[in-house]
Amino acid sequence: MKHLLATEGMTAATATAVLDTAAQLKQTLLGREVKKLPTLRGRTVLTMFYESSTRTRVSFEIAGKWMSADVVNVSASGSSVGKGESLRDTAQTLAAAGADCVIIRHPASGAAHRLAGWLAEAGTSVVNAGDGMHEHPTQALLDAATLRERLGDLAGKRVAIVGDVLHSRVARSNVHLLTTLGAQVTLVAPPTLLPALVRRWPVTVSHTLDAELPSLDAVMMLRVQAERMHGGFFPSAREYSIAYGMSERRLELLPEHAVVLHPGPMLRGMEIAAAVADSPRAAITQQVSNGVHVRMAVLYHLLAHEEEDVA
Ligand code: CP
Repeated sequence: MKHLLATEGMTAATATAVLDTAAQLKQTLLGREVKKLPTLRGRTVLTMFYESSTRTRVSFEIAGKWMSADVVNVSASGSSVGKGESLRDTAQTLAAAGADCVIIRHPASGAAHRLAGWLAEAGTSVVNAGDGMHEHPTQALLDAATLRERLGDLAGKRVAIVGDVLHSRVARSNVHLLTTLGAQVTLVAPPTLLPALVRRWPVTVSHTLDAELPSLDAVMMLRVQAERMHGGFFPSAREYSIAYGMSERRLELLPEHAVVLHPGPMLRGMEIAAAVADSPRAAITQQVSNGVHVRMAVLYHLLAHEEEDVA
């Protein structure tokens, strides 16, 4: 695996290999006081975040450090990006400085793919840490890791992805990965927050959350992405919350074994009630914790393990 750019096109074998490695790493580090493996000693990992992030940036940094890589964080505001340097020139500069892997978050869909093309000659690996409304593959992998821990094999499991699907790279990556792993995915959203290409995805669509809940194994709530909506959205925030928010009443409609996910950051009181987010039925902190192990596994497969390429 040379790059991790998307879950669309990723094979079940590759996804399962990464998830199995993550589970193994988690088990290896369990209960250890010093969480440090020598695997990536001498390797240099750069994070370049052109959009804000807490979970993804921090967990990639921890993942790299736990694997003994040298991790350097480059922020747009403190670098020559602020002087107008292009993404291409910045990336080629960082590769020339010795980066083995560049992890990028960027507001433009396709930025990670472009970067991988520009860095092909340098042999630098690229990880997409979220590109516009396109994909966020490591989020989907950590969600799948969490669902496997809670539910076992995902084949045949029913998962609803709820809310602002239109603007969500998390939803896109999860649709592709979960269906590749055999889950049955239903998108639950108002028609105004569904992309046109949903017709080409192997999913079912519903506009009524209450009707779906009793038959689900998992429900994944999405953040309403106000920063990608210019001029407000329909329905209104209040109507959205009433129709699509995960309330305490709705938690009771789920089967007892069903799990509630949210990629974070959460808008408590909007798409998820505080009492639901903090309940043992929610796996939100487990998702964050699994994010570190999944990102360790991704770095391992990119930098320490020769195998086939990924989309
Ligand atoms: N889920 C996620 O990508 O969170 P951050 O924006 O905090 O990285």
